[in-house]
Amino acid sequence: MHTTTLQPLGAELTDTDIAALTDEQIGEVRSLLAEHGVVVFRDQHVDDDAFLAFLQRFGPLTFTAGETPVDGFPDLNVISNVGRTEPPRSTFHVDSSYLSTPPAYTALRAVEIPSQGGETVFTNQYRAYETLGDDVKARLEGATITHVVTGIDPSLLTEDDETQAEHPVFRPHPLSGRTALYMSTPKRCAAVSGLDDAAAAEVVAELYAHSTTEENSHAHRWAPGDVVMWDNGCVLHRGDHSVVVGDRVMHRGMVADYGLDR
Ligand code: OGA
Ligand code: MN
Repeated sequence: MHTTTLQPLGAELTDTDIAALTDEQIGEVRSLLAEHGVVVFRDQHVDDDAFLAFLQRFGPLTFTAGETPVDGFPDLNVISNVGRTEPPRSTFHVDSSYLSTPPAYTALRAVEIPSQGGETVFTNQYRAYETLGDDVKARLEGATITHVVTGIDPSLLTEDDETQAEHPVFRPHPLSGRTALYMSTPKRCAAVSGLDDAAAAEVVAELYAHSTTEENSHAHRWAPGDVVMWDNGCVLHRGDHSVVVGDRVMHRGMVADYGLDR
């Protein structure tokens, strides 16, 4: 696999067919994700059958209640601006961190690319941790954040659905073992262990601002045929819906876990 690594995160593969990967290459993609956070596969032009089959090589998929499924593919969902007056959610976040086992990977397949705008922006949460001041590191060592669900209609949730989970602020990545600053959008970071609400809100705002600087971010500009996959254990992401001109349609799948127990 011909790999170009990007700064401050991301890796791009230009010679790789996601429909024809060996098991060993799937392992290499996992390692690239754990190390670089995002893998961009150029020139794929695959259909949903191939996209789904590719994702299933990493493990069972998971689906968020309330998302719009792709016709005929209940494990995939559509992200689209077509016919919307309000643009989709656009702040940096981690997918479904209110679950005790949040999805390991999320992937998007470009179906329609707008003529302008609509990048997906990622942050490097290893670097965010590494560049924190020693005082902050010491103060939050061993602390946890309570991640809560937002933006899901409660009537869609069943009694068995989790709506909140505690995760370490400094979370070792399940595969690489490297420490990442693990958080989501401030609205989803409801509490920090050992801090009262005001202090928690202040710390969360500080960590979020530190994570989401331009120098800690990489904006992926979409091209036809792109499949982009990211590792929710070491990046935040956001769709930049601020100045989109034209239709933007993505098909999306999430891999439930890292497969360490299988
Ligand atoms: C997602 C997401 C951003 C985008 O798929 O989870 O946040 O660029 N997408 O569409
Ligand atoms: Mn997301």
